[in-house]
Amino acid sequence: MREEAPSPLTGDGGERMNRARSRLGHAFLESMIDLHCHLLPGIDDGPETLDQAIALARHAVKSGITYAVVTPHVHVGRYKNDRPSIRGELVAFQAQLDRRNIPLRLGFGGEVRIGPEIMELVAENRIPFLGEKEGYKIILLEFPHGHVPVGSDKFATWLLKNKIRPLIAHPERNRQIMDDVNRLTPFVTMGCMLQVTAGSVAGLFGEHARRRAVDLLERGWVTILASDAHNLEHRPPELEPGRIAAAKVVGELESWKLVRETPLSILGKAPHIAVVT
Ligand SMILES: [Fe+2]
Repeated sequence: MREEAPSPLTGDGGERMNRARSRLGHAFLESMIDLHCHLLPGIDDGPETLDQAIALARHAVKSGITYAVVTPHVHVGRYKNDRPSIRGELVAFQAQLDRRNIPLRLGFGGEVRIGPEIMELVAENRIPFLGEKEGYKIILLEFPHGHVPVGSDKFATWLLKNKIRPLIAHPERNRQIMDDVNRLTPFVTMGCMLQVTAGSVAGLFGEHARRRAVDLLERGWVTILASDAHNLEHRPPELEPGRIAAAKVVGELESWKLVRETPLSILGKAPHIAVVT
């Protein structure tokens, strides 16, 4: 039997829809797009087995996510993933979902750890970009959790000169940025986008990260919310609790843009189901 699918993308952010959402509250889950999650089994620190990965996919659907761009770690020296290798894993996992009639569409991406070796991956066309927006390819770029490496701003400038726009992954969980938002300011000023983890806004990563996430929302710096799902226990594939918490800061309409319209615009074209080009 086919699992119940959430409502389709409406593309409508109007006031009437907004009031309807408010009345219905949690019972009415719109389709949401997750641009950062680790769902593919056995290739990074996400699910280890196919069964675990399937459980994550089922949970994503139940929580209102209909489209998930899988973003395995691309981290030279730690995880050997790149554009060609992720491509094969994505197609195989989509087939497993389809066999089970799980209504989750997958998109193609990766979470790229910042470092000089990335320049070589760019030259060899091995970066799994999330999509393209306004003439720039979008790279989900990760800093180490403890600090912002010296020279990161110069590297981001180099990417932009090469028509690659960084979408910085979960800056609110970076220790230096938690302590001092000015560590992040140069990146926003030069045109980087920011992905805040939905769970951070909802308080899943502690008060320090929650406060920075709210601060970034108040500044209007947050481009999208994403789950950064790894497992069911600590980092589940959920956007809705974070969206609800974000709505208290930016309002209901803006909160939906963070999980639907803006992620869709970053994909470049509506929805690029299992894009493997
Ligand atoms: Fe991640």
